[in-house]
Amino acid sequence: MRRTLIAGNWKMNGNQAANALLLAGLKEGIGASVVQVAVCVPAPYLFQCQAALSATAIGWGAQDLSVHAAGAYTGEVSAAMLQDFDCSHVIIGHSERRSNHGEDDATVALKVNAALAAGLTPIVCVGETLAQREAGQTQDVVSRQLDAVLGTIAVEMVGRLVVAYEPVWAIGTGKTATPEMAQAVHAILRERLSAKAPAAGAAVQILYGGSMKPDNARELLAMPDIDGGLIGGAALKAADFLAIIHAAG
Ligand code: 13P
Repeated sequence: MRRTLIAGNWKMNGNQAANALLLAGLKEGIGASVVQVAVCVPAPYLFQCQAALSATAIGWGAQDLSVHAAGAYTGEVSAAMLQDFDCSHVIIGHSERRSNHGEDDATVALKVNAALAAGLTPIVCVGETLAQREAGQTQDVVSRQLDAVLGTIAVEMVGRLVVAYEPVWAIGTGKTATPEMAQAVHAILRERLSAKAPAAGAAVQILYGGSMKPDNARELLAMPDIDGGLIGGAALKAADFLAIIHAAG
């Protein structure tokens, strides 16, 4: 059975005071949840998360990493640095990185390899734009994005991936894919993973992201191939994030 993963993507939000409140609220409210939980935070706050969450069941991680190991790469953060702060996860290929920073499939694949080599769990994001969906290209787009990663990793590494389906048109818009729409894409992604590595593909957590909220989480998470959520806006309020965690199990 796949364990449900609820991961928060704080994006470029937070400050030390607000983070302290949010993390304290999560620690207090999480209870004995069987759900796996992680928060992916801006790099400057990794130390704060490490200090606040080390003795808890909540993991933490980053939202991007460099393809390079070290050296003259001003502004970049390496996989080893994330490892140094005991990160569990790192988001890779988020649509905001793809569109705002020109990250292409090849770069995403390099980043996934950097994360895997450092023992981090990459959360590989894929998803179509509204224009691509309306043109009937969803399957082609998400398959291409995932295959670009699968083509560069060893079969034994497939089981170390987390995949997140994030339709671009649903991110931060309040528009959510219906459970059936999301499930259809998750099934395609599962099929791609299993084509590469049958047993491991069945075990990979595939998350849905895009306006997942307390009031729609339960029906999305009830779908057979939706194994969790990658939560943006609703991860910034302890009550909302906890409500999604508790809806998950
Ligand atoms: P929202 O939950 O704010 O739509 O963001 C989703 C997302 O992009 C998570 O990575």
